[in-house]
Amino acid sequence: MAQQKTILRALAGETLPTPPIWMMRQAGRYLPEYKATRAQAGDFLSLCYNPELAAEVTLQPIRRYGFDAAILFADILLLPQALGADLWFVTGEGPRLSTITSADELAKLKPTEAIHDTLNPVYETVKILSRELPKQTTLIGFAGAPWTVATYMIAGKGTPDQGPAHALKAENLPVFEGIINRLTEGTIAYLSKQIEAGAECVKLFDSWAGSLEGDDFTNYSIKPMQRITAALKEKHPGIPVIAFPRGAGTRYIGVHAATGADCVAVDDGVDAAWVAENVQKDGCVQGNLKSSHMVTGGDALVSETRRICDALSGGPHIFNLGHGITPDADPENVQLMIDTVRGS
Ligand code: CP3
Repeated sequence: MAQQKTILRALAGETLPTPPIWMMRQAGRYLPEYKATRAQAGDFLSLCYNPELAAEVTLQPIRRYGFDAAILFADILLLPQALGADLWFVTGEGPRLSTITSADELAKLKPTEAIHDTLNPVYETVKILSRELPKQTTLIGFAGAPWTVATYMIAGKGTPDQGPAHALKAENLPVFEGIINRLTEGTIAYLSKQIEAGAECVKLFDSWAGSLEGDDFTNYSIKPMQRITAALKEKHPGIPVIAFPRGAGTRYIGVHAATGADCVAVDDGVDAAWVAENVQKDGCVQGNLKSSHMVTGGDALVSETRRICDALSGGPHIFNLGHGITPDADPENVQLMIDTVRGS
């Protein structure tokens, strides 16, 4: 049977009359129903590891808005936790992890096969979702890309400039590269299990790719994503991959070929018309409305949404934000964005 799911058609390179749409962080704190379920779970990590409730929050934005894709509810920091790092979230501040900066600490990480002991509930969530999602909705699995996850493992928290990770790279390259390699291997194992459980596409979030300069961008953002993509496609032929090297700027040119990804997600730091000419010529692109429009709404939201759709109408495009929706967003603005994209 011909592929009916619009997201998978766009990922296969089809130019659709209306771009399919989903939104990064679509299950999140801007939705009252998310906050209620999160309260029921107790805290964010308990929600991630509760398959019934994680499936429930994944489904909430699908019920409310009818997005074309659902993204598994989890977090990129579950993999370091599964490898043995301590992980907790400080309200209002974000994630905290035990740090890893020495050969000894690297050697103490658990073997790749052991990650599933921790991550099994995530695969359960995927299984529930693949049963319960509407038949037209694509299920997207995900992981952080090695560089971005490494920045948190090395610093023990989010950092504005990823300074501690850059410093470790400069001071102890074998340990830095050891971390990248363990994460690359772990990500392949983690995403393979998500695919086996029912994920129809996977996305690699390299949220901090933009701070890598020169050859470092190629070596630590692009190459690990390429290794992961190649390994997944060898194990699961035909599985589409979305690569998101956020902040890449002009270095978005050539990312399809360099990573082997089917789709390149672009942030709002690049103009849609430039993306059409320089990136979409190589395949599907995803993006890139500024998240702040979900807070401010109005005519600017409508005109900017239309401009992006028009600019990218000549090739395969999945409409999305340039980054995750923020907790202060107005749920009605999300509806306005969807109505604008779908032309009603
Ligand atoms: O897109 C989705 O809805 C899927 C689920 C998802 C979450 N985080 C849920 C989440 C995905 C894909 C992520 C990715 C993620 N997590 C990234 C990369 C993408 C990006 O946004 O740049 C990063 C860097 C993380 C690590 C992380 N998790 C941070 C920095 C935070 C923010 C902490 C805070 O309090 O704002 C989280 C928490 C988190 N992950 C939330 C959600 C919905 C909010 C948690 C809550 O309910 O309190």
